[in-house]
Amino acid sequence: MVHKKKVLVTGGAGCIGLEVYNQLLKEGYHPIVYDLIEKIQKVSKFVKLKEFFYGSILDRALLSKAMQNVDYVIHLAAHLGVQRTEEEPLRCLEININGSKNVFETALQSNVKRVIFASSSEVYGEPFDKYVNENSITQGKSVYSVSKLAGEEYLKALCKENKKFTGIVIRFFNTFGPYQTAQFAIPKFINLVKNNASPIINGTGEQIRSYCYVSDSAQGTVNALKKAKYNNNFSIYNIGNPNNSISVLELSRKIINLSKKNIKPKINRDFSQTDRIKEREVFARLCDISKAKSELKFSPKINLISGLKKTYNSQILWEDWPKHNKV
Ligand SMILES: NC(=O)c1ccc[n+]([C@@H]2O[C@H](COP(=O)([O-])OP(=O)(O)OC[C@H]3O[C@@H](n4cnc5c(N)ncnc54)[C@H](O)[C@@H]3O)[C@@H](O)[C@H]2O)c1
Repeated sequence: MVHKKKVLVTGGAGCIGLEVYNQLLKEGYHPIVYDLIEKIQKVSKFVKLKEFFYGSILDRALLSKAMQNVDYVIHLAAHLGVQRTEEEPLRCLEININGSKNVFETALQSNVKRVIFASSSEVYGEPFDKYVNENSITQGKSVYSVSKLAGEEYLKALCKENKKFTGIVIRFFNTFGPYQTAQFAIPKFINLVKNNASPIINGTGEQIRSYCYVSDSAQGTVNALKKAKYNNNFSIYNIGNPNNSISVLELSRKIINLSKKNIKPKINRDFSQTDRIKEREVFARLCDISKAKSELKFSPKINLISGLKKTYNSQILWEDWPKHNKV
């Protein structure tokens, strides 16, 4: 019998993680989910996970147990969300820096051959170029973006020192889909519209993003596992969908159109009573994915409207992250 490659997916019960898990299964890997107990229990009402570990990436002993005989690690677990990371900056640093350090070092000790680390387009801050590529300057504006940059740099350092260890950083650009937490724009707008309320637009609504449907983000991740090219055992890829670039105001209108309701977006020009602040807002961020297209054969397939329809029709949008008292 052919030995299936084992892949531990931290944060595997999350929005991107569940899709990565499914695609790994389809491609003949043996995926194992590692996530917080509250999250796995919540998800298990909808999805049957074959193998999983309840645990935190702050628990090194458990990570070590979970990585026994594992070939690859896809590290997606993180503290994210504008409101949450700004309200809990130390927790964000602890989970995203210390937790990632635990994952990378344990992988190295456990003879894992390759680690993929989920970083974010937030590391580019307010870009100078219209389309950002992997060589664009990184100048994150938030605690979250700095925590992701720290993870990237540490993985790069470990790869340089250890010849049998390869590392891949994926900078995801706004991913959306079912199972996303309602703090993000698309599920937040969908929840409001379903409840006959107006989506609230902070600022002018002219902020532009490239939105990528979750199955495409997961495809880019799995392709990276198989096809990445390395420099000093390390590589960085942008994963997103530049064809789905749209302003936040237009995005809210598309969601309202899906509902066929007579609702208008509400403009909150001065960001009052919101978790967002003007200084932290990135105004335009579009992705250049030429590197992933040529090296990973990455080609996002789901256009914005089909992705929005799939998300709108799914009943599964989390109200909020489950509270986790334990690390
Ligand atoms: N969704 C996006 O638009 C986007 C954009 C850029 C980067 N990313 C990155 O991609 C990754 C996956 O994001 P997502 O959208 O699936 O988010 P998500 O919140 O749906 O998934 C993250 C998962 O990590 C788990 N987690 C949190 N703290 C943990 C801990 N201490 N130990 C173990 N598990 C823990 C959560 O329970 C959750 O299931 C994250 O690293 C995120 O920073 C996402």
